[in-house]
Amino acid sequence: MRVAIIGSGPAGFYAAEALLKRAGTPVDVDVFDRLPTPYGLVRGGVAPDHQKIKAVVRVFASTAARPTFRFLGNVQLGRDVSVEELRRHYHQIVYATGNESDRRLGIPGEGIAGCTPAAVFVGWYNGHPDYRNARIDLSVSRVAVVGNGNVAVDVARILMRSRAELERTDIAAHALDSLRNSQVREVFVLGRRGPEQAAFSPSELKELGSMEAADPVVDAGELAGCADADGNMKILRSFASRQPRGDAKKLHLRFLVSPTEVLGNAEGKVAGLALEKNRLEARPDGTVAARGTGQIEVLDVDMVVPAIGFAAERIAGVPFDEKARIIANQDGRVVDPALRRVIPDEYVVGWARSGPQGLIGEHKRASAQVVEHMIADGAGLEARVLPRRDAIDALLRERGVQLVSFDDWKRLDDVEVVRGERRGAPRDKIVDVEAMLALLSQGQ
Ligand SMILES: Cc1cc2nc3c(=O)[nH]c(=O)nc-3n(C[C@H](O)[C@H](O)[C@H](O)COP(=O)(O)OP(=O)(O)OC[C@H]3O[C@@H](n4cnc5c(N)ncnc54)[C@H](O)[C@@H]3O)c2cc1C
Ligand SMILES: NC(=O)c1ccc[n+]([C@@H]2O[C@H](COP(=O)([O-])OP(=O)(O)OC[C@H]3O[C@@H](n4cnc5c(N)ncnc54)[C@H](OP(=O)(O)O)[C@@H]3O)[C@@H](O)[C@H]2O)c1
Repeated sequence: MRVAIIGSGPAGFYAAEALLKRAGTPVDVDVFDRLPTPYGLVRGGVAPDHQKIKAVVRVFASTAARPTFRFLGNVQLGRDVSVEELRRHYHQIVYATGNESDRRLGIPGEGIAGCTPAAVFVGWYNGHPDYRNARIDLSVSRVAVVGNGNVAVDVARILMRSRAELERTDIAAHALDSLRNSQVREVFVLGRRGPEQAAFSPSELKELGSMEAADPVVDAGELAGCADADGNMKILRSFASRQPRGDAKKLHLRFLVSPTEVLGNAEGKVAGLALEKNRLEARPDGTVAARGTGQIEVLDVDMVVPAIGFAAERIAGVPFDEKARIIANQDGRVVDPALRRVIPDEYVVGWARSGPQGLIGEHKRASAQVVEHMIADGAGLEARVLPRRDAIDALLRERGVQLVSFDDWKRLDDVEVVRGERRGAPRDKIVDVEAMLALLSQGQ
């Protein structure tokens, strides 16, 4: 049996692990990624000051060490190889391509310079090659971060960390340089619903209370009428009752406001954010929605980072669910969205399957469930004779693709770790695909 997995983030790696551990038919697993580096958002999303979370890559590396596993980095489905070609070379295909687009606020001014979606800002500080040249101007003093999820907290925290705190992390060198000289003094994290509806994890929220040079600021009035519960509410109350240090930067947590327009100045840069005050409305299904009251204020900020969620990118030849903005599927089996018919031997895992919710560890069980479907559906498939395993490599090389193996990645990894030691960091990332490929060809 031979399986192609497209995407080497947590969902792809956990699917590979489940496939390689399956009893019975031996499986050859080829994991492709458009980047020369594996691990998806564990490398490009998880915050640089959260190194412990990144330790999960050891589990993925042990999967990669299995004898029938191969990593084929620097190969983009839809650009370097087509779905049709994968069908010819593999018995089954698993899409694990994540959610690489941002959701948009859909308000006027969203495209103004200085209004930077979270995927861009996070990709920039994490050294994702797509965003290494993003224009991030930190000569500004006040920033709005829209959204009340963990990504909003990550973004706000990175903006508020001190130089010393950042130097110890694997933040990209260009971002470290820029943040060292940052003039940002105040960040406003804006929730459209109330504190009780915020999506932050308590551990992430709590961390905002122990930053070296910044303090969380919560107006006690914002918490009036909220339950006296544990978790986020308890933490927010403790923030509301503390006295911020006079010389500290301020991270304001505000609720019940929705941006209605990003305001620009004559130079086309952000000059403020118009906010509408919301009230909460209980819905018949038990959920609570934000409703605008018509009351508008202008928040004086010069940079805006919407952190309101992500969506899958459309990939040529892969069925797309326009409404949910994920790969069209039923329980991990890819379907034709028009006919609602299952497309045989094609599966989807991770955020590409379910949208942008959930933690890294949750993909282990979810990907294994999809692998159960693959096993149930795939009986006898191995009888279909395929081209030799390395025929796909030859096809890609003919097209001028420089393939990156897992051993190649280990070389890049070693180089990054050695570079990091110079600044006392876990690694100093190489952020340019061309530089990675040049470094690998030198050693050939
Ligand atoms: C900013 C941020 C911080 C986060 N922090 C945490 C955290 O601290 N703890 C936690 O538990 N969870 C965290 N998460 C959530 C976690 O990262 C996700 O649950 C998880 O990474 C999703 O896994 P995935 O494999 O579906 O997608 P991804 O991790 O996005 O992996 C997708 C992979 O597919 C590749 N790919 C995409 N398109 C193609 C293509 N056409 N061809 C080839 N390859 C392709 C990409 O390069 C990427 O490597 C965070 C998420 C974000 C956005
Ligand atoms: N350390 C960690 O563990 C960590 C770090 C980062 C990310 N993650 C995980 O990764 C996933 C994605 O995180 P996320 O923060 O992107 O998503 P999220 O948890 O879904 O939060 C998105 C936030 O955006 C708000 N929002 C959506 N549309 C909006 C709009 N039009 N206007 C204003 N606000 C809007 C949502 O408000 P409503 O609730 O009102 O919809 C919500 O507060 C989550 O599962 C998260 O836990 C984990």
